Amino acid sequence: MSFHDDDAVCNTSTNPTFAELTKRALSRRSVLEGSVGLAGFAFLGCAAEGAEGMTGELEEGLRPGTIGFRSIPISTQDTVVVPEGYRADVLYAWGDPVSDGPAFATDASNTAGDQEQQAGMHHDGMHYFPLQRGRDESRHGLLVLNHEYADDGLLHVGGMVPWTADKVAKSQAAHGVSVIEVRLGRDGWRVVRPSRFARRITTRTPMRIGGPLAGHARMRTAGDPSGTAVLGTLNNCAHGHTPWGTYLTCEENWSGYFVNPSGDVPGASPEEKAIILRGQARYGITAAGDGYRWHEHDLRFDASQHPNEPNRFGWVTEIDPFNPASVPVKRTALGRIKHEGAWVVETRDGHIVVYMGDDGRFEYIYKFVSRYPWRRARAAGASPLDEGTIYVARFDAEGVGTWLELSFGKNNLGVETGFTSQADVLLETRRAADVAGGTKMDRPEWISSRPGRAHVYCAMTNNNRRGNGTDPAVDAANPRPDNIFGHIIRWRETGGDFAAVTFRWDFFILAGDPAHTAPTKQGDIQGDIFGAPDGLWFDAQGRLWVQTDASTSAVATADYANIGNNQMACIDPDTRQVSRFLTGPRGCEITGALTTPDGRTMFVNIQHPGEPTTERTDPAAPTAFSTWPDGSSSGRPRAATIVIRKNDGGVIGT
Ligand code: FEO
Ligand code: CA
Ligand code: CA
Repeated sequence: MSFHDDDAVCNTSTNPTFAELTKRALSRRSVLEGSVGLAGFAFLGCAAEGAEGMTGELEEGLRPGTIGFRSIPISTQDTVVVPEGYRADVLYAWGDPVSDGPAFATDASNTAGDQEQQAGMHHDGMHYFPLQRGRDESRHGLLVLNHEYADDGLLHVGGMVPWTADKVAKSQAAHGVSVIEVRLGRDGWRVVRPSRFARRITTRTPMRIGGPLAGHARMRTAGDPSGTAVLGTLNNCAHGHTPWGTYLTCEENWSGYFVNPSGDVPGASPEEKAIILRGQARYGITAAGDGYRWHEHDLRFDASQHPNEPNRFGWVTEIDPFNPASVPVKRTALGRIKHEGAWVVETRDGHIVVYMGDDGRFEYIYKFVSRYPWRRARAAGASPLDEGTIYVARFDAEGVGTWLELSFGKNNLGVETGFTSQADVLLETRRAADVAGGTKMDRPEWISSRPGRAHVYCAMTNNNRRGNGTDPAVDAANPRPDNIFGHIIRWRETGGDFAAVTFRWDFFILAGDPAHTAPTKQGDIQGDIFGAPDGLWFDAQGRLWVQTDASTSAVATADYANIGNNQMACIDPDTRQVSRFLTGPRGCEITGALTTPDGRTMFVNIQHPGEPTTERTDPAAPTAFSTWPDGSSSGRPRAATIVIRKNDGGVIGT
């Protein structure tokens, strides 16, 4: 999303970067590729190491025909385009009822109460949970999706003028998560209405705080003296899903909803104040916030008056989609950062590993390893996500890396660095990573693993501050200054074990046009070009789907002129050949892609069509830029879930 792309860099720590010049970093892969031939198994030692207990190795590229569509050109149209032989239809747009609630009002006159029963704004991460097994597994399920943020200019009659308590309530109701029931019938996919599963989770939904921070003194507030209950979740970006059938929603740019107008904490001792303000600075809580103005009518968002309330955000939140009465739980053992997503994998011995990016300039990549095998934990009535170890990634030169444990008493995390317990480490995870010496990355977004292998891919979307004056210089894993196009990095865990503490890494793709006139901006894409990778997802047959988010003011420059609207690419992970599969309407971001288990239906989210002209402006203006999906008659652009099918009913991508 856009509101945060120009925010200040929060990481001013001096932990080491690994000064490698661009040329050296980029030359390593070509050496590796050269060593294994042009079809190139580019990944360090994969062919040999992959035999260590891994299954499903695909050593010479995907099977012929696995990627079989004719790729499409770039687009500047205000519509969704997919390849010949496919069709895309809108399934669930902002304002559509989740069940049998009120319909969308095109003049934005729906109330906050209506909005609580309708799709929120700005769909993002998403997962499909089958409701049936066997034949209907891919024809009837629950679709669970995030609503990352709100454009108050579009959301209300008159935009933010005047700004009222009712508008704050509606804005909060437009955030959160939707659970909708979907079914494939003769006329295609439909939202089932009414549905006994349908649910909206918002910034006011009661939630429980789980794990090591539950009840901690720094989690207690005037409204919740127990420190165990919190209202709502915020800025839910990407997601994860667990083997036990739950959905993980991730709180990303939550800090921008809080303000500290005075830069003070009245009533706190000098020692307490220093700790509180240190934390607020490290997470980017400022006097102005990101312009949501919730604090004017909901005082808990005033971090001066309620300094512990921000501690209750920045977590991975677990939702049971099958039980609409269930209370979501914030899993504090996974650390407090600006969580992009939470990609869950299982080790050979049944432990859970959760990969997590912190999407800020010069922030880090983390992983959590559960203490117990997940089945054993659940059999004992415990959550596998409540006990475990978190690590931050350090990418060293020459393609090796280490997971640095963030445990109190290790890696300089002690009283001398301002930590008194593991609870402090989890509450101030960013600072713990600074102290431990993680590698400052170019905005880590989605993470995904390749089926059958311990190969993990992460998108660094862009970082136009890299190497810019006082900001960190290029390093081995972030080799381009003013990295406006971003890159995708990948690593293989040692021994094929997701819980390993060392890994080998490589660049998968440097995004951008290989023909760009500036050498440091040239990409190395083979095939269709894109910039600003964000969403990453491997389907069951090994295709890598990459969705882009280049619509923000920081990167939507002339450099993007020949890349067009945001898009989704399909990539063979062995040959690195890129084929453009989808282009979105104007000003949108593409996100949330996944297929049903049979691979024959793909769901994709179109976020913020019309950006940036829509942001908090009067709704008359944005219609000139985008009116997707409703067209000119109704005007307001609406984020939406679309559903893609192949005309012959075949597997998506073939
Ligand atoms: Fe919400 Fe980092 O994208
Ligand atoms: Ca994202
Ligand atoms: Ca993004």
